[in-house]
Amino acid sequence: MIKKTVALVTGDGSGPEMMAVACKIATEAAKEDGVEIVFEETPMGWNAYEKFGDTFPESSFKRAVEIGTIFFGGVGDPKYDNTIGAEKPEMKPEARCLLRLRKEMGLLLNFRPMIYYKELAHLAKVRPEMIPSQGIKQIWIRFLLEDSYFGNQDFISDIPEDIKNKVGLRLKKNVSGEEDIVMDLAYYRRSTIEKYLRAAFAYAREAKLPLISIDKANVMARYDFWRKISVKIGKEFPDVPLIHQLVDSANALLFEPAKLHGVIACGNEHGDILSDGAAAAFGSMGMMCSSAINPDTGAAMFESGAGTAPTLAGHNKANPLGRILTGAMMLRHIGAPNGATSIEVAVNKVLRDGCRTKDLVSSNEESDEEIGILGTSEMGKEILSYL
Ligand code: IPM
Ligand code: MN
Repeated sequence: MIKKTVALVTGDGSGPEMMAVACKIATEAAKEDGVEIVFEETPMGWNAYEKFGDTFPESSFKRAVEIGTIFFGGVGDPKYDNTIGAEKPEMKPEARCLLRLRKEMGLLLNFRPMIYYKELAHLAKVRPEMIPSQGIKQIWIRFLLEDSYFGNQDFISDIPEDIKNKVGLRLKKNVSGEEDIVMDLAYYRRSTIEKYLRAAFAYAREAKLPLISIDKANVMARYDFWRKISVKIGKEFPDVPLIHQLVDSANALLFEPAKLHGVIACGNEHGDILSDGAAAAFGSMGMMCSSAINPDTGAAMFESGAGTAPTLAGHNKANPLGRILTGAMMLRHIGAPNGATSIEVAVNKVLRDGCRTKDLVSSNEESDEEIGILGTSEMGKEILSYL
């Protein structure tokens, strides 16, 4: 057995319940490839605040970065945001943990492959007849650095002072004058965009799919820049068709997925919004899997894009499938590709067998339909039985 250490963030809300199941399944499946996963807990989120007075303890941060592979259960809970978070906004864990990890680890690429399950057609916002019979490939690769997410005082240290002065950036505080003006500086740097787009093209070539590049080049400087770079890098990949799509029309095409068949490259903010929409269009955000990778160092974080389901916490009700599928992505990364495939096959099988957590029966949270509904851990057991 080859040992692989993975930093584990069980997270807030229903995170720990979902991650307990996902970890067990990943551990079991990895054995197929002779890989023994050793999970090492690195607490982050409001649960870490309760224990250590910090949503992002330095020791967790250091150790997670050192290990270089993180299985991330999601952080955040509105209950805390409105209490401790109101007094100490810097503790809000979404930005404090996720953005700092992404930046420190140089997680440039965020993979979010959309999977359409016929069995979940009743949840999908896209009409079934819009899904071509030969199937659909829609692989989002979101640019995960820079943009508006990192354009404020906590993150902007990589922009030289003179440039900050030139653009009048006064950090998260008001700028000046009588009226408060707050801004996040959305910036793209040539070297990172080139590296990102080159990686996205390479992925599209490998997958034999077109590269659909999403921008807002008609009005925004950074997207004009983006489009020009995409054309330039595209010349290195003459065999990969390059399609430009404006972000607003791309949004409308979420419901006509045949027109978004390919590898989709998009900015950080656009990608955040559109990939959530795509997951809902295909079925449910609870099914989304997601990984963030540094293509140079191999550092990686595996986080399902869905939230922490805080209202279900402690009730064994949250849907663990997004986390489980994210675990499969992790297995592929750490050298357990057969285990990864086994997990994906098992998820298909349990859905075909009619196994459902409550959210997969109906998107109506009020529905009190309980008959035959599986809890988080029972769903895990079903998957395990197929491995
Ligand atoms: C996501 C989340 C995060 C993001 C937040 C929590 C920082 O929404 O992974 O999609 O916007 O990237
Ligand atoms: Mn999001």
